[in-house]
Amino acid sequence: MHIQELSLRSYRNYDQLSLTFDHTINVIIGENAQGKTNLMEAIYALAFTRSHRTPRDKELIQWDAEYAKIKGSVFKRNRKFPLEIVFSKKGKKAKLNHIEQKRLSDYIGALNVVMFAPEDLNLVKGSPQVRRRFIDMEIGQIQPRYIYHLGQFQKVLKQRNHLLKELQRKPKADRTMLYVLTDQLIEHAVTIVERRFKFLRLLRSWAAPIHKGISRNLEDLEIAYDASVKVSEEMDLETIRTSFEEKFREIESKEVERGTTLAGPHRDDLVFFVNGKDVQTYGSQGQQRTTALSLKLAEIELIHSEVGEYPILLLDDVLSELDDYRQSHLLHTIQGKVQTFVSTTSIEGIEHEALKEAEIFHVTDGAIDVQK
Ligand SMILES: Nc1ncnc2c1ncn2[C@@H]1O[C@H](COP(=O)(O)OP(=O)(O)OP(=O)(O)O)[C@@H](O)[C@H]1O
Ligand SMILES: [Mg+2]
Repeated sequence: MHIQELSLRSYRNYDQLSLTFDHTINVIIGENAQGKTNLMEAIYALAFTRSHRTPRDKELIQWDAEYAKIKGSVFKRNRKFPLEIVFSKKGKKAKLNHIEQKRLSDYIGALNVVMFAPEDLNLVKGSPQVRRRFIDMEIGQIQPRYIYHLGQFQKVLKQRNHLLKELQRKPKADRTMLYVLTDQLIEHAVTIVERRFKFLRLLRSWAAPIHKGISRNLEDLEIAYDASVKVSEEMDLETIRTSFEEKFREIESKEVERGTTLAGPHRDDLVFFVNGKDVQTYGSQGQQRTTALSLKLAEIELIHSEVGEYPILLLDDVLSELDDYRQSHLLHTIQGKVQTFVSTTSIEGIEHEALKEAEIFHVTDGAIDVQK
């Protein structure tokens, strides 16, 4: 799949912008603070209805403007269709084929995007939250129904935490409602965990050989799921459910004491091992970067295998960060099959055959010129 046209209106430092992209490689060149990341972010937001760098949609609206609009035409499965998203102070509206989609899960997944930015190193180094977001977004874009379960889970979690706070103050109060909410929570938790397991199996199968390739056969990557409840990938839905039920019975008094939900997918994590050692703790900067890169490249293949088409790849400021070998490896992998956007302050240092055919865009202060 690829994006053919993109237009922006009052988006960050772009007043108005309308571009046509190459279906292979597009290079965005500009000094610092000119709008490279903003453009990448807009493409990401067109896919996910949110930014990759802030949870606050308001920040996307140009200062002094009432709303921000992103429009794009996407070519997928031999069909071209429009996507549109408007962020206003009252909220956001997403349209697919000109029709507003009330549920995010009916919109997300229409356009598949994989982004690799410097902060993705946090996938390995950062907090568990970063890894949960990664896994949730990725499952969500190949299986939109997952987003529905996540939303429901979060809703029940909030209610349950609220109730636990009350019980913390009045531990003798009736607990019937707590059990009702626990059942509902388990219902969604089981689905979420089961889908995460499925996704991990796929991710692993793609990421391990890719990592081996990038590390010149020196490193074996392993990915584990660190769960807050005794569950494992071999378990079926019923066994996972029983584990959750047991866990919540076991920790009931502790949860009341603490006034919050202490187990569930919102507390789980991913752990990456290189040659048997935890990369977060023992990995070098280079190994952490290679791990993050392997995961992103694996995602591309995974989306291709699940969706039937390659996603769009956004490489914001990362190409020049990789050594020559990793750069060529990456560009070689995507060449000719993945529409790619590369942003950089300078084209020097990223000489590669793949870039010869690229469309070059120069960004200055929210305006873009196409290099002829
Ligand atoms: N809501 C907004 N309205 C107007 N301008 C904004 C808004 N948000 C950010 N900006 C401006 O956008 C510019 C930053 O753009 P961006 O992050 O795309 O830079 P960049 O080209 O990626 O730079 P770098 O090379 O440093 O990463 C800044 O000058 C910032 O002030
Ligand atoms: Mg930037």
